Amino acid sequence: MKIVTPLALSAVLLASQVTDAFAEPPRIVHTEAGNQIVLHGKPYLVLGGELGNSSAGTAEQADSILPRLASIHVNTVLVPVAWEQIEPQEGKFDFSILDHWIEVARRQQMHLVPLWFGSWKNAFSNYAPLWVKQDTKRFPRAISADGTELEILSTFGEETLHSDQRAFRALMQHIRQADEGDQTVLMVQVENEVGYLGRGGRDHSTQADAGFQSAVPRALVEKLRSRREMLSPELASHFHSDGKTWAEVFGDAADEVFMAWRYATSIETVAAGGKQAYALPMYVNAQLPAPAERAGEYPSGAPHPYYLEVYRALAPSLDFYSPDIYWPNFEYWVQRYNVPGNALFVPEARLEAGPFNALYAYGEARAFGFCPFGIDSVMPSKDPAAPAPDIAQTYAALEDLGDLVLDAQRTSRSRGLVLHASSPRATQTVALGGYLFEATLSRSWPAKTLLTDDGAMIILEKSEGEFYISGRGLTVNFYRDPDVDKKIGGIGSIEEVKREGGKWITQRRLNGDQSNQGRQLSMAANQMHIYKVVLYAAERHRAE
Ligand code: DGJ
Repeated sequence: MKIVTPLALSAVLLASQVTDAFAEPPRIVHTEAGNQIVLHGKPYLVLGGELGNSSAGTAEQADSILPRLASIHVNTVLVPVAWEQIEPQEGKFDFSILDHWIEVARRQQMHLVPLWFGSWKNAFSNYAPLWVKQDTKRFPRAISADGTELEILSTFGEETLHSDQRAFRALMQHIRQADEGDQTVLMVQVENEVGYLGRGGRDHSTQADAGFQSAVPRALVEKLRSRREMLSPELASHFHSDGKTWAEVFGDAADEVFMAWRYATSIETVAAGGKQAYALPMYVNAQLPAPAERAGEYPSGAPHPYYLEVYRALAPSLDFYSPDIYWPNFEYWVQRYNVPGNALFVPEARLEAGPFNALYAYGEARAFGFCPFGIDSVMPSKDPAAPAPDIAQTYAALEDLGDLVLDAQRTSRSRGLVLHASSPRATQTVALGGYLFEATLSRSWPAKTLLTDDGAMIILEKSEGEFYISGRGLTVNFYRDPDVDKKIGGIGSIEEVKREGGKWITQRRLNGDQSNQGRQLSMAANQMHIYKVVLYAAERHRAE
């Protein structure tokens, strides 16, 4: 009999734990400081990008797009997978296009997030197969308040849900077979920007009208009541748990909550079927309302922050909820999704603002992923001497900083900010590790070669007084935080650094004119760098 010493046993156990963790599908972990995605047993930072809607309809597109995206440091690509593409004939599935995308991504050491364009894509149903679109009896449409039959599959169509679920389950089964070992596929988005778009704020089909006149499911009311402290102000102010009908319980918000109920339960049906086949993390994304719009002018019943708790009450198979942020107030919308228990991931954002907003998303909101939309439109120059595209510079820096970002997120030692050239506020200050970081837009610089004059930075505290800062377009002053102690603070050193072969290399030490005589970090205006900044705190010795 072979005797296993305690040391050898723990080594064996450790090895098997490591193997188990490696084999386990990616999952979302919740920590007090925030939430991250774990891949092969380790937290993973998604430096993402979403493809344009018509960029993944053929296998060949993978060959030209993915290597190019890898060269600009994108490590995860969000790829549309259309229902009509995988099930062109009812019950006959074809995954050949997706298989090629997975194969090319794997070769490039990238990850994929399939976007399930099933029954709904931006409210409409144009990615459904023809056999679905043509059979309006089996797959009924939503009806608007003026009686128009919309090109939107009704959430009341039982066959629709059944067929969508079957297709999605087949997709997940296939991904499991093709990819469980490698885990090139990281997670899956279920449907895309769902909601009812049309007059009247909700589906007015006969079934929908009948449902709207009936009592709100008691389980939903009870769930919302038990989580009252979690409700958004918009939902809380409309929620009357003593009522019976939708109008009584939700007042002016009844149409929208009614649709949220329908979409959440429909998506839950689809997602639950897929999870049984392969339990990857699953999420839904939301188109965000503009202030003056009414429900139905933006997709009514979407998982936007007002009615998020309705989804959370009804869709246990969904791991998190994500905003598609095209509005200029990026920070506001990210923070609306930064609610307890929700992992932050931005699947779509404006590409032009991406290099700046990414730093806020990872540093301040502690998102595990950020994805500019239409990333495949970024074309690196063929001239090696030309500067890399803006988003490539940002992702290159974040790639170098990867582990530091993840550690700092987990321990609440990261901050981030964006200063907009259009904003009346020229200065913004954040506190971290006993110091204040006061950032000012570098407006007065002669080197105004930047297309936009915005500025942004991420700050990571590595150890006491040692910070890694990356950003552009900002001048930063450092102070000791008077809320911490009465010491004076100052700059010990500033270095421009880079990671090579896993090691940090100092490229330049910034002194004299380059640090305004030791008083400031002056970031380059049009180039992203990583700065290692050592700050000191000293006792005051001035006689009082
Ligand atoms: C949001 C959608 O989710 C995307 O698929 C795409 O249509 C963009 N809008 C286009 O701006």
